[in-house]
Amino acid sequence: MEPAPIPATDATVTRPGRRRVLRWLGGLTVVSTVAMVVTPVLGFLVPTRSGRAVAGGKVLVATTADIPAGGGKVVAMGSAPAIVVNTEQGLRAYSAICTHLGCVVAWNDLIGAIQCPCHDGRFNPASGAVISGPPPAPLPPLNVTVEGDQIFLSEA
Ligand code: FES
Repeated sequence: MEPAPIPATDATVTRPGRRRVLRWLGGLTVVSTVAMVVTPVLGFLVPTRSGRAVAGGKVLVATTADIPAGGGKVVAMGSAPAIVVNTEQGLRAYSAICTHLGCVVAWNDLIGAIQCPCHDGRFNPASGAVISGPPPAPLPPLNVTVEGDQIFLSEA
């Protein structure tokens, strides 16, 4: 004698619907994971609008009123920090990333030099050369151009 067929219950009737929902959620999880991985990679490879230079590769960073004689200021050159100093020889600009361990340097009015806050590395404002401290190399220079009262920087 054969066993009687098991009658369909509500649970067996709704199982394909649950599987479909679980598959859909699984697919959504895969798509979300891929998006979380791809988005930062694309953000790194494609520069943002704020990181783009204007025509000629120049980036407007400040006005001459922002950096008086004998002063200096860290500015944003796109997404990278730069430092502009107003020396006796004129405006000079360098990457503001310390060549020791990558801290952002700053202008120090008291010592009249560019100083790294991390290990007290000091740089000559007129040349970017290391004056003292652990930095192994000078700050990389940037080109400075002034148009009217606007200061532009570009890669050297
Ligand atoms: S990171 Fe600048 S002196 Fe060490």
